[in-house]
Amino acid sequence: MTFQAFEPIQLGKNLKLKNRIVMPAMARWKCKSDCVPHEGYLKYYKRRAKHNVGLIISEGTHVDNTHSYAIHTGYEGRLTNEKQKKAFEGIVKAVHKYGGKFIPQLWHCGENATNPISVVSSSQRIKQMDRNDMDQVRDAFVNSAVLAKEAGCDGVEIHGANGYLLSNFMSKRNVRNDEYGGTIVNRMRFPLEVVRAVRQAVGEQFPILYRTSQWSVSNYNEIKWDNVEELKIWCDGLKEAGVDIIDVSTHKCYKLEFVGQGKQEESHTLAGWIKKLSGLPVIAVGGVSYTQTVAYNWGSSGKTSIENPERCLKLIEKGECDLLAVGRALIANYDWVDKVQRGDWEKLKPYSRKTLDELF
Ligand SMILES: Cc1cc2nc3c(=O)[nH]c(=O)nc-3n(C[C@H](O)[C@H](O)[C@H](O)COP(=O)(O)O)c2cc1C
Repeated sequence: MTFQAFEPIQLGKNLKLKNRIVMPAMARWKCKSDCVPHEGYLKYYKRRAKHNVGLIISEGTHVDNTHSYAIHTGYEGRLTNEKQKKAFEGIVKAVHKYGGKFIPQLWHCGENATNPISVVSSSQRIKQMDRNDMDQVRDAFVNSAVLAKEAGCDGVEIHGANGYLLSNFMSKRNVRNDEYGGTIVNRMRFPLEVVRAVRQAVGEQFPILYRTSQWSVSNYNEIKWDNVEELKIWCDGLKEAGVDIIDVSTHKCYKLEFVGQGKQEESHTLAGWIKKLSGLPVIAVGGVSYTQTVAYNWGSSGKTSIENPERCLKLIEKGECDLLAVGRALIANYDWVDKVQRGDWEKLKPYSRKTLDELF
């Protein structure tokens, strides 16, 4: 199949990819208590680089070892000390050997952590973040980003999506009555402080990706931006703070956003709107080559059914995105790029929760 998706691209200041297919962040929960992404992870990422994935984003990787607020299950990788940095160094080298690029996703779980902390506390059990907590979180992101740069990674992705800490600042549920809650400008203030601090620490040339979404794990239908005008304020903020590429997390990458609002003459996907409003390169994700969304696999042990990825691949030609991320289908098919490029998409394997048992 001939698509721009399989052609090289130069992105941002310093990122040249051999094609536009991305493996998005997917937690695999296979680390031991030292939270070091071990040899099994190295082989897993290397296999995908060897089989022509242009950009690999690591599983959600924790930024904090000063307290446990960041941690999801404790079995994800972390990037907080020299031993973990060495492991990332090895992975980057292995991926580079095959012409791939590797970027860790930096993750703080917030209210979804084992020991939760919240933007706005809804119960006695969960502490509401104060300024001191915010400083710690910001510094933790900076610390991990610097370690990623020292490890030779090709950039960092800040996880600001899907209902974890930074995305919860963006939520309309964030009714804090200080300058970090309420209006859209207030809600985006802390995530942008994190981006600016990371940018200052890693310098102008090091690519920063930012993952953003409407939805969250606690509410798949959550809306953070009601309209294009609000989204524009967020896009301007990300750009001004120093983000190079925006990774737009949706369940179906081809679904149109802000439909039926009457004012828009154009129709776009969420990634398409963000690309247009920010002027930055964007990654689209969600439902490539599978009929069911990721929500189906979280709620069921059933298998996905395969579908032709053509309409998703064409989003690049249509100018809706620059890169296309393939999630579950790349866990189930390390050779996704090779199969699809040859026109053999019907030979793709389905995905089910069982696929996660092995790190292959
Ligand atoms: C097992 C699993 C783990 C995931 N972990 C993360 C994560 O750590 N960080 C993140 O931003 N998204 C995570 N996601 C979401 C994916 O990055 C992706 O956006 C989603 O699966 C939709 O793409 P798909 O339909 O191609 O699977 C995860 C998804 C799966 C299936």
